[in-house]
Amino acid sequence: LDRLPRVETDVIVIGAGIAGLFTALKASESKRVLMITKKSLFDSNTRYAQGGIAAVISDEDSPEFLAQDTLIAGAGLCETAAVDVLVHEGPQGVQELIRYGTNFDEEDGHYALTKEGAHSQRRILHANGDATGYEIVRALAERVKTNPDIVLWDDHFVLDLLTEDGECRGALVQKPDGSRVAVFGRATILCTGGAGQLYRYTTNPDVATGDGVAMAYRAGADIRDMEFNQFHPTSLCYPGAPRFLISEAVRGEGAYLRNIRGDRFMENYHPQLELAPRDVVARAIVSEMEATKSTYVYIDITHETPELIRHRFPTIYEYCLNYGLDMTTDWIPVAPAAHYMMGGVKTDLRGETSIRRLFACGEASSTGVHGANRLASNSLSEAIVFGQRIVDAVNQLPPIPLVADNGPASERQGILTGTLIERRLKLQKSMVRYAGLRRNRAGLLKGLDDLRKQLPLFQMSLSKREELEYANLLTCALLVTEAALSREESRGGHYREDYPQKDDRDWQVHTILNREKGIR
Ligand code: SIN
Repeated sequence: LDRLPRVETDVIVIGAGIAGLFTALKASESKRVLMITKKSLFDSNTRYAQGGIAAVISDEDSPEFLAQDTLIAGAGLCETAAVDVLVHEGPQGVQELIRYGTNFDEEDGHYALTKEGAHSQRRILHANGDATGYEIVRALAERVKTNPDIVLWDDHFVLDLLTEDGECRGALVQKPDGSRVAVFGRATILCTGGAGQLYRYTTNPDVATGDGVAMAYRAGADIRDMEFNQFHPTSLCYPGAPRFLISEAVRGEGAYLRNIRGDRFMENYHPQLELAPRDVVARAIVSEMEATKSTYVYIDITHETPELIRHRFPTIYEYCLNYGLDMTTDWIPVAPAAHYMMGGVKTDLRGETSIRRLFACGEASSTGVHGANRLASNSLSEAIVFGQRIVDAVNQLPPIPLVADNGPASERQGILTGTLIERRLKLQKSMVRYAGLRRNRAGLLKGLDDLRKQLPLFQMSLSKREELEYANLLTCALLVTEAALSREESRGGHYREDYPQKDDRDWQVHTILNREKGIR
């Protein structure tokens, strides 16, 4: 490490979704920021967010209503103080997004608000119909690119965090030419997003490989609630098409789910029908797929007017049309796909992890807001609310003595053989089979066994981005599987066939994994 070039800054932001862009902009108001992204500012889950951003805007709504919906979705595992922060500070965060140039859709002189599953009110702001994430990224990225206090390194891969005396001092970074550099700052903020790529079918882009969780785990941070994975009920399921998200807002605007016989089926599963909590809808769909021996069900919005469909869902409409599917007249084939990681790097209410000076924001974090299941559209608001809090906390931090020494990644020996594509696919299929929507002890043990066969990988010297991502996925897969095995009950996004009930007596507790203590 001593021989590597060094770069010093005030704040290191890793990742480029809403969490990274927003915290970088906020921090730059008084600090020098180095923003590092492994691809570009336009590669993140945020960019694909359709439904929108939940916040208490309407006079008919109240923070208490949103808190109640969030707590119900979270199935007894939300941290109420974190939820309180979210519901009260969300509107201010939305104002900041607007100040930074985000244009939300308006209707009759007010912001247009839609509804999604398990929300009791219309409170979801959206942009360009169903392109909310894209609009937010566009607005924030434009500001980041022209901000003289933000240095942007794209196409750079963060290998590991640098820690000393229980504090994070910065990160070890691989440049596009393969050379390495040590970066130091008074705070490091992980905004690295989720790990949808753990599963064969996901709404997430290929960058969602859980890098932040894996590197925080290696550095010794507490990782919380990794067994809770959200599967979105309706991703496009059509030969040759990626698992494109068909927003819950489509059901929010009245769409039906039908099995391949054409029957609406949600009345057999939940009183809230198509707008029941996501885990309920996703498992209901799988049951119908099994009962009808099909790989999909249909979403049907043909009873709405073509004008409404094209106006509210222009992106989805166009996307489906590319595959010869016309939402205004055709039922669209859909199936569940991995969508959101509720767990992550545990933080306090200021966004700081169990390692001092290491912060986590957005999907990479576990602030306590989502509990066992995230309420739709709460994630974008979580990122801005806690992003603001992180920057407030960072501004209070004293500078660090700029010395550091631990060379974690560079000491690995050996090289990775076999094709990466094969390995990644095998891991994804194993996760679908053993640690997916429905789990049981025998399957999880089999999955764990498969994953453990890959452990020698951690002794190897890895340098290609695909290898490093695969290693991070493997770490996250182990965390998910171990956490899922330990939780002998069903709750929110974690469903155990061998323990199908929620068990509040023994299991209303978080799962924490870390290098030192294992599960506790
Ligand atoms: C959707 O549009 O259905 C996704 C919204 C979310 O996951 O929060």
